[in-house]
Amino acid sequence: MSIIEIINSRRTIKKFKSDPVNMEQISKWLEAGTMAPNHKMTEPWEVYVVGPETREKLNHKANFFNAPVVLAILSKHGATQIETEENVIATACFVQNFNLAAWEEGVGTFWSSMGGAQKNREILGVQDGYDVIGVFGVGYPEEISEPKERTPIQDKIQHLS
Ligand SMILES: Cc1cc2nc3c(=O)[nH]c(=O)nc-3n(C[C@H](O)[C@H](O)[C@H](O)COP(=O)(O)O)c2cc1C
Repeated sequence: MSIIEIINSRRTIKKFKSDPVNMEQISKWLEAGTMAPNHKMTEPWEVYVVGPETREKLNHKANFFNAPVVLAILSKHGATQIETEENVIATACFVQNFNLAAWEEGVGTFWSSMGGAQKNREILGVQDGYDVIGVFGVGYPEEISEPKERTPIQDKIQHLS
């Protein structure tokens, strides 16, 4: 697949197969994540591989759609508010690199924002000075949904003088 085909075919997955995804594969895609742009080379991302006990405590209502792997991805705060914001942006780029690298090999993700809630931060053991960018189910899709319609980009472009 070309990069544009990978981007356009990627979907959020809400039904996973039970087939395992091993840490070697995950590490390769996370490594691709690290090539994300990040201002001042802060490399703000941190990854937690969520084990079964923590996963149960998180008590996600759909249990991450039975994804075989669950990851939490965090972004470290910077020295200033602006740096913290830039770090979140960089970590989002990291996440999407990971998503697309996995998708190229037929593995999908479900992105949950549940990690931001204080209770879930505590369950994950997140320290002060970190934002939780998401908790991710990762696995082979059992079902791939139709694309959700997007507003044409022409409606979002303004030409400045
Ligand atoms: C920051 C962020 C948080 C998200 N949190 C959730 C979530 O909590 N639950 C959920 O069902 N989807 C979540 N999503 C996934 C979006 O709902 C999904 O990307 C969107 O519906 C478009 O679908 P697509 O990814 O298949 O194109 C999140 C996406 C992002 C970028």
